[in-house]
Amino acid sequence: MKRKNVFLVLILFMLSTALMAQNDKVNVQNQEMQTFDSYKDVGYDQVLRPQFHFSSLKGWLNDPNGMVWYDGEYHLYFQHNPKDVKWGNMTWGHAVSTDMLHWKQLPHAILPYGGGAIFSGTAVVDHNNSLGEQIGDTKTLVAFFSFAKNPFYQAAAYSTDKGRTYTLVNGGGPVVPYQGFDMSERDPKVFWHEASQKWVMILWVLKGKEEGTPEEKLGKVRFFTSDNMVDWEVASDFNREWVYECMDFVELPVDGDKNNKKWLLYDASFDYEIGDFDGKTFTTDKKVYKGDAGTNLYAAQSFNNSPDDRTVMIGWMSFWGDGNPFLKAKMPFNQQMSFPTTMELKTTPEGIRLYRWPVDEIENLYVKSHKFKNLTIKKAAKKLARVKAELIDMSIEFEPSSSFDVNIRGLMVSYKKNSEEIVYGKSTLKVPAVDGKVKLRILLDRASIELFANEGAVVATCYAVPEDNNDSVSISSDGDLKINSISINELKSSW
Ligand code: FRU
Repeated sequence: MKRKNVFLVLILFMLSTALMAQNDKVNVQNQEMQTFDSYKDVGYDQVLRPQFHFSSLKGWLNDPNGMVWYDGEYHLYFQHNPKDVKWGNMTWGHAVSTDMLHWKQLPHAILPYGGGAIFSGTAVVDHNNSLGEQIGDTKTLVAFFSFAKNPFYQAAAYSTDKGRTYTLVNGGGPVVPYQGFDMSERDPKVFWHEASQKWVMILWVLKGKEEGTPEEKLGKVRFFTSDNMVDWEVASDFNREWVYECMDFVELPVDGDKNNKKWLLYDASFDYEIGDFDGKTFTTDKKVYKGDAGTNLYAAQSFNNSPDDRTVMIGWMSFWGDGNPFLKAKMPFNQQMSFPTTMELKTTPEGIRLYRWPVDEIENLYVKSHKFKNLTIKKAAKKLARVKAELIDMSIEFEPSSSFDVNIRGLMVSYKKNSEEIVYGKSTLKVPAVDGKVKLRILLDRASIELFANEGAVVATCYAVPEDNNDSVSISSDGDLKINSISINELKSSW
């Protein structure tokens, strides 16, 4: 070959390999998973359809993902199977709301690509245009998720249309590569750290061994920082036995004091520690607490960029295994979210603890309220007259003078005087009296009951199906019981 031709062939070869490398990196979201058009024939009127909790119109749902507020809308993305009521084909489903009560489901936001699924993650408002993709005045939303194909890596996608559609960053390739710990390292949480002016990511990378040396029992959460959201630097490792999946990390004022804030790190099963964070390292006294005493809360996340001073979280109410009420009743959907609760740190005699409380917006669903004051209940059961309700937000304040049961549409919530506990099914809430009183709030929907004791010091999130033809609330007690007040609010559906 002449020299000129060799040169040409060489150039062509280089060009084609460059193009191939490029193609290798460019992934296309699988449009076959965009099934949202086929959801339009179902409503929210089925027997077990939650009436003030989020559930997907159709299909399976698990973890809340990418919870973020922007321009008047709360975004709730979620792990979704767009093709079945069982787990699989993980895709980010999407819903928006202005009040966290009334949700409007939208087309699925991020679809599987390149032979991998889209696992859990986070979304942020790119207020400084760190990624450089902003168009006009509309801020970019940036989502970070685990690309689930072994070994997993952390990828990102951005939206310039207020979270409706997402474009893969780096063609869906890694922004954080496999760290070499667990083949399925996952669930990045990203947020803006104001004090250090950096983006911070926390990532669960290793589960501690159940048996082994103290060192082997430690799991690992890795902290990263970034300026541009694409290049991430390892900042520190946080090694603890309890850490596993779906970590969330939030800064909260203590007793409402904005000058005294602490950081809270929690995982999917809602174990948590409280401590300090300098932008790189989280330091604590290593004491671990439990954030929910119920049977079904999992993988909770909090909203990034909250519009007010509140930090609000929502969790997945998980139901694995036999007896799933939605499958039994052949619902077009499966699983639901918990009711949104605020998160606050309060000083107690035992130290600083997390308190959770239903968001006040729930009051917009009240249609009728019944109030009872200073009741003394003798041994017999007392049916609370006038109450006929399907959906209930009920509060009761009592003096712990005797054990008693609240029968709420056939579901039994019991107070045990000797052990100072509230018991529902397999859940036990320790409720020592505060100033001689115990307080309990109960939210009841078509498939769930949520208990908030002593103003949110202890919370239990549980699946529960009340009796179909029973719309009453009654109380029965062992001995003389002094109830200071009861208020029962009937709710209307949010759909
Ligand atoms: C938690 C979880 C996450 C994962 C997702 C997959 O429920 O296992 O760790 O990203 O679900 O659906």
